[in-house]
Amino acid sequence: MNSHLFTMEDLGVSVRRGREPRALVRDVSLSVGESESVGLVGESGSGKSMSIKSAMRLLPRGAAATGRVEFDGRDVLTLNRSELARYRSHEVAMIHQDPRAYINPTRTISQFLAEGVVHTGQMAHEEAVEQARSLMADVGIDHADRRLGQFPHQLSGGLLQRVMIVAALLPSPRLIFADEPTTALDVTVQSDVMAILLEQIRDRQLSMLFVTHDLDLAAAVTDRLAVMYAGSLVETGMSADVYARPLHPYTAGLLQSRPSTTGVRRLTAIPGRSIAAYEAEEGCPFAPRCQFATDQCRSQRPAPREYEDRSVACHRVEEISDELKERVS
Ligand SMILES: Nc1ncnc2c1ncn2[C@@H]1O[C@H](COP(=O)(O)OP(=O)(O)O)[C@@H](O)[C@H]1O
Ligand SMILES: [Mg+2]
Repeated sequence: MNSHLFTMEDLGVSVRRGREPRALVRDVSLSVGESESVGLVGESGSGKSMSIKSAMRLLPRGAAATGRVEFDGRDVLTLNRSELARYRSHEVAMIHQDPRAYINPTRTISQFLAEGVVHTGQMAHEEAVEQARSLMADVGIDHADRRLGQFPHQLSGGLLQRVMIVAALLPSPRLIFADEPTTALDVTVQSDVMAILLEQIRDRQLSMLFVTHDLDLAAAVTDRLAVMYAGSLVETGMSADVYARPLHPYTAGLLQSRPSTTGVRRLTAIPGRSIAAYEAEEGCPFAPRCQFATDQCRSQRPAPREYEDRSVACHRVEEISDELKERVS
């Protein structure tokens, strides 16, 4: 049906709390094409990590996914053990928010980098270390030989995340899942690490699903954006268009509440707090925080529908689009 490398269709994630299942992600449909970067953006707790963990089949115990996840025409949610191992080691790679939580502190950088690809039979140890050395140069890690012999605690957060980028690239995957890859780093190194990751993605024409709470960053580095609220997508479109002219009140709120670089825009936070999918009441999950909400919004959940060049989950998109435009311009 499509030429996309990766798709999610009506993805749902829920956890069991006592007898009741609690929804964390609801009806999420999105796709990533070959060499395309897509941003998944939303406030903390909106279900971004759960969505990409589903795509890696890395959900925590007790959490289950429904719907469909497809990679290159194959159904990821039903891959058997060996297919899954191959998918995770050769086809996709994940870069996590906090590198220290995902690296074994007792293994050297060289052991860590070689282990993955050697274990899956993709490369011999020597070759893996050789390629790791060359990738380290690509991501700006100096003194590769010394670094390869060191342990994770001897590296700064920024260097360790570069090592994680090397680990992600080493098996030559086609798609990178990056979950807030720079959020845990010192502000001073965030933009360096981001630039390095982007350069590698572009040079290798990889696809990327980039998860972040930062709409400005996502808009700057991706081709398309999917904006998530309370476990569901509220707006999907080309990044430049969504950024210039948001069509959902939540997207507009995110854009208005960021600090302005020109000093012209006022800081208008969205009232209330973000919620998880299971906390949403009947109707539109954003209605309690939306100044445009009507009785219909409070009683009927809006499904995403095509409007202009977007997919937008808002009953009132036709009526409010002009006003939203004025607000963020
Ligand atoms: N292991 C878990 N068990 C139950 N609920 C969880 C678990 N991990 C996260 N959650 C909840 O799932 C929701 C979505 O979390 P998450 O996907 O991590 O959000 P995001 O990445 O957008 O910040 C949150 O309400 C969070 O509290
Ligand atoms: Mg997260």
